[in-house]
Amino acid sequence: MTELVLDHVSVRFTLPGATVAAVNDVSLRVRPGECLALVGESGCGKTVLAHALLGFLPGNAQTSGTATLTGDGPPLDLLATPDAVLAKTVRGRRVGLIPQSPASHLTPVRTARAQLEEAVRVHHPSDPAPRDHAHRVAARAGLSPADLDRYPHELSGGLAQRVANALALVGDPWLLIADEPTTGLDRPLVDGLIAEFRRMVTDGRAVLLITHDLAAAHRIADRIAVMYAGRIVEIGPTADVFDTPRHHYSRGLVNALPDRAFTPIPGGPPLLTDLPAGCSFAPRCDQVVPVCAERPTLTDDDHAYACHVPC
Ligand SMILES: Nc1ncnc2c1ncn2[C@@H]1O[C@H](COP(=O)(O)OP(=O)(O)OP(=O)(O)O)[C@@H](O)[C@H]1O
Ligand code: SF4
Ligand SMILES: [Mg+2]
Repeated sequence: MTELVLDHVSVRFTLPGATVAAVNDVSLRVRPGECLALVGESGCGKTVLAHALLGFLPGNAQTSGTATLTGDGPPLDLLATPDAVLAKTVRGRRVGLIPQSPASHLTPVRTARAQLEEAVRVHHPSDPAPRDHAHRVAARAGLSPADLDRYPHELSGGLAQRVANALALVGDPWLLIADEPTTGLDRPLVDGLIAEFRRMVTDGRAVLLITHDLAAAHRIADRIAVMYAGRIVEIGPTADVFDTPRHHYSRGLVNALPDRAFTPIPGGPPLLTDLPAGCSFAPRCDQVVPVCAERPTLTDDDHAYACHVPC
């Protein structure tokens, strides 16, 4: 069975005089046939985690733990696989990425068409009509043939997002990591993308949707993982996390939604260079008790949470 299992994954960045603890001890499973949403405030480590899985981290990063991809041959630890192997066998094929800043991932001197047709040739070498194939994928992402004739600098943010979405869909990856994929898209295009994601999971593949938009996660995801200061603080079925959050940060996120209490969480997240020894949310938590000075561990349930005094 194909699945991705993260076991105690951490990512640190070394800077002159400081270490950034961007991802801390993340363990989770991405199952076939599900859309798992990873949600959390800006800067909590979502993109860094995605980049770690695809071998896109810069030279000042160190990883620990394992991220094991099974199915299609021997298990592969994505964190320990050489870049050349990731490029040849994983990226775009087994694991695709819709990057958070699509424009910066496109090659500036080639049209969208040239990049999409090249991706078709790489992933479907026996297709005799790569141009038609590129048009079909482009249409699924909301692009017209005329849009494809533009260079990246001629694309609006929304069009660049659609090109990135099309490029990620070409390879039919088993797992699609979609990092804020709806940025700049209007409602019909968002609905189209959601339909693509649903088609993938119905097919037995998986989507890891990264977003700070909890309402979008609620619409799309089967399960939600809530990240705070690089750690998963709650994970479970979408309805459970949404309707009966157990961690006080998740409760705060839900209560901040416009159709709920619309009350923002006071304060801001801790510095990743200076995380508290205990619960990272303690400085903002209205239920903090002395035991919160010890780090809570994630429970071992289908709806799991890391809190000493759950809601
Ligand atoms: N190369 C790097 N060197 C040092 N710190 C970094 C580096 N790349 C990312 N970080 C830090 O890692 C932390 C997590 O960043 P990340 O981009 O994963 O956040 P995010 O959850 O994706 O936020 P957003 O919702 O804004 O996209 C941030 O504090 C960021 O400044
Ligand atoms: S562990 Fe303590 S500080 Fe952290 S969320 Fe739970 S009650 Fe609040
Ligand atoms: Mg991000």
